[in-house]
Amino acid sequence: MPDSPALQALDARRSLPSRQLGEPGPDPDTLLRMLTSAVRVPDHGKLVPFRFLRIAGDARHSLGEYLVQRSRERDPNVSAAQLEKDRLRFSHPPLVITVVARPRPNPKVPEEEQLMTAGCVCFALLQAAQALGFGAQWLTAWMAFDPAVRAHLGLAGDERIAGFIHIGTPRTEAPERERPDPAALLQDWVG
Ligand SMILES: Cc1cc2nc3c(=O)[nH]c(=O)nc-3n(C[C@H](O)[C@H](O)[C@H](O)COP(=O)(O)O)c2cc1C
Repeated sequence: MPDSPALQALDARRSLPSRQLGEPGPDPDTLLRMLTSAVRVPDHGKLVPFRFLRIAGDARHSLGEYLVQRSRERDPNVSAAQLEKDRLRFSHPPLVITVVARPRPNPKVPEEEQLMTAGCVCFALLQAAQALGFGAQWLTAWMAFDPAVRAHLGLAGDERIAGFIHIGTPRTEAPERERPDPAALLQDWVG
């Protein structure tokens, strides 16, 4: 039986490294189209434990300058190469969508489940970007876990960064990598 288009799209998904994501990024309508698919995630209790933060244009560069300052605060001996990496981190692609997880206390839905829902949003956004002809990569690094960076981005105390989804027009073909063998990962539980 031939694979369905849906399966073909799932199997064709691959990341494009952020440095290979060029102009143009998606226009506002195309971005909203992407997000419409990205929000269709399993969500126990329909809590919508996520939101989006768009980082584009000059905001990418000003965030880079802030990251340099913060990187120096965290480690006064940080190398010049690392600082340059931090400065440019958000400047390579035209658009970065920060998927913010906002878990709330709930008697039936533990925080872990709500974070997984936000992770699903990241994955769905990668898929939607690729389906619309863009390349994308899910990145985190130290800046996703640093409380000062979170505050600089305006996150509330209980909010977390599930991922920075870098999006742009592919400058090269996305590299394929070896994938796990599902048969080797599958076991029967027989009680
Ligand atoms: C939560 C999460 C965070 C990630 N953060 C980084 C990162 O900071 N730097 C990086 O090089 N790759 C990171 N990756 C891996 C890339 O997103 C991507 O999976 C990798 O480039 C392999 O490409 P593939 O998606 O085609 O398998 C992260 C992946 C996940 C799921």
